[in-house]
Amino acid sequence: MSSEYILELDNVSRYFGSVIALKDVTLRLRHGEVHCLLGDNGAGKSTLIKTLAGVHPPSSGTYRVEGEAVKFSSPREALDRGIATVYQDLALVPLMSVARNFFAGREPRKKLFGVIPVIDIPYANEVAREKLAEMGINVRDAGQAVGTMSGGERQCLAIARAIHFGAKVLILDEPTAALGVKQSCNVLKLIHKARARGISVIFITHNVHHAYPIADSFTVLNRGQSMGTFAKSDITKEAVLDMMAGGTEIQNLVDELEGRAA
Ligand SMILES: Nc1ncnc2c1ncn2[C@@H]1O[C@H](COP(=O)(O)OP(=O)(O)OP(=O)(O)O)[C@@H](O)[C@H]1O
Ligand SMILES: [Mg+2]
Repeated sequence: MSSEYILELDNVSRYFGSVIALKDVTLRLRHGEVHCLLGDNGAGKSTLIKTLAGVHPPSSGTYRVEGEAVKFSSPREALDRGIATVYQDLALVPLMSVARNFFAGREPRKKLFGVIPVIDIPYANEVAREKLAEMGINVRDAGQAVGTMSGGERQCLAIARAIHFGAKVLILDEPTAALGVKQSCNVLKLIHKARARGISVIFITHNVHHAYPIADSFTVLNRGQSMGTFAKSDITKEAVLDMMAGGTEIQNLVDELEGRAA
């Protein structure tokens, strides 16, 4: 292993015209860790992961992958280095089958009459069903349309796909934001499985109950700047909550309401 870190950003800034979305951000992601990115709305979290994912090149600063400086000009280039991103809006095709979405352009093919290449649908369905089951996602029929799956199942499908196709880094932008308790648990379990396979994960959430149990470290962004990175052993859940969006405000509100009720 050439570097202790799989991804490193050094003093990275990103401007959109006169808007400073990121200012001198330094972030290091270790091999096989779950790194939670926290911060209020507009803090720059999505911009930061889009920088890592090759969507927005840094305006200044350095980006290194496995110790080597990179300048990605497209998400494809980041993906080729094993950096897979699952966005909140997912980029799945609802009318296409689970299996077709799982393979997304990499379907197994066979030759019709020995000459015409076609997608081997029964085989694709079987492999997709099997691979999803290995990751704890049970679909009765991988030939069913993705549109029939719940939000949580879709999120799991997108993550499972990235893991199956060899992601080394999995970047998740608020994967649990729209999910209920049980479905959030499934996503968290999948993150846990990804880490067990040695994959590094960057996980954005506004929910301390999702962040704290799963994360090994936390980086807090505030108005485009990093407030620092903290190992879980060095920080309590309450302190994380305080640093998150409105943590203190929410606690003050709870205290006030309880005081009023008493
Ligand atoms: N493509 C863009 N063009 C112009 N400004 C942008 C662009 N993308 C982001 N910004 C600005 O950069 C800042 C950071 O936005 P970003 O989306 O990274 O925040 P965030 O932390 O992901 O917020 P949220 O929690 O609401 O998703 C905001 O002020 C936003 O308006
Ligand atoms: Mg965002």
